[in-house]
Amino acid sequence: MEIFETGDGSHSIFSDQFGVSYHSKHGAVQETQHVFINAALRMKATIQNKISILGIGFGTGLNALMTCLEAQKRNLQIDYVAVEAYPISLETAQSLNYGEVLPDPKANDLFMKIHECKWETPIVINENFTITKVEKRFEDLAYKDQFDIIYFDAFAPNSQPELWTKEFLSIMYNSLLPAGILTTYCAKGQVKRNMKAVGFLVEKLPGPPGKREMTRACRQAIE
Ligand SMILES: C[S@@+](CC[C@H](N)C(=O)[O-])C[C@H]1O[C@@H](n2cnc3c(N)ncnc32)[C@H](O)[C@@H]1O
Repeated sequence: MEIFETGDGSHSIFSDQFGVSYHSKHGAVQETQHVFINAALRMKATIQNKISILGIGFGTGLNALMTCLEAQKRNLQIDYVAVEAYPISLETAQSLNYGEVLPDPKANDLFMKIHECKWETPIVINENFTITKVEKRFEDLAYKDQFDIIYFDAFAPNSQPELWTKEFLSIMYNSLLPAGILTTYCAKGQVKRNMKAVGFLVEKLPGPPGKREMTRACRQAIE
């Protein structure tokens, strides 16, 4: 595992185990902002204030941190479940520079609070954000009709083909509430076809800097 600087100055990690990085080399913060905060959270926040989120891949904790900051900014009530099978060490988390590159002066304290809190139990980080970190393999998840949003941030299909199949995507579909949405940086044709096959309404959106497209998929409200 190696920390490196991405194009926007924020850190990411290269995973030796999977042979890929945790974020786009063009910018980790930019990617999270675009794919998860703007395309998913801000969309839901236009219609509701209380939002439940499943984060597929806690990893560096960047998605959780930026969601917490957005929740504070917009006075949202977020219940965030972050799943991760291979948690990074606290020492690695302390070396990541998100607290310095994000403009909020509380970013670093919140980041460490999110990393230091206990797993497998809901922890109130502040009045806008509660997190439950779950140490589990994605393949073993069995949620039903529970989340408004899924941040689908697994490694790409070339590294983890099993997580982009119809079988796994239907587990994601069933984890969402009706009209729940899933966003991902991935825009591969076969993945979008698999999403449609399990029932998602699939939208192609412009991607974050360095990437032409991304995908937003909505669980159909009427089935
Ligand atoms: C693309 S990274 C993104 C992580 C995170 N969203 C972030 O911002 O750092 C994918 C994450 O999924 C985790 N992961 C990979 N395979 C997994 C599996 N089968 N079950 C659970 N977690 C897994 C990796 O350890 C890594 O943290």
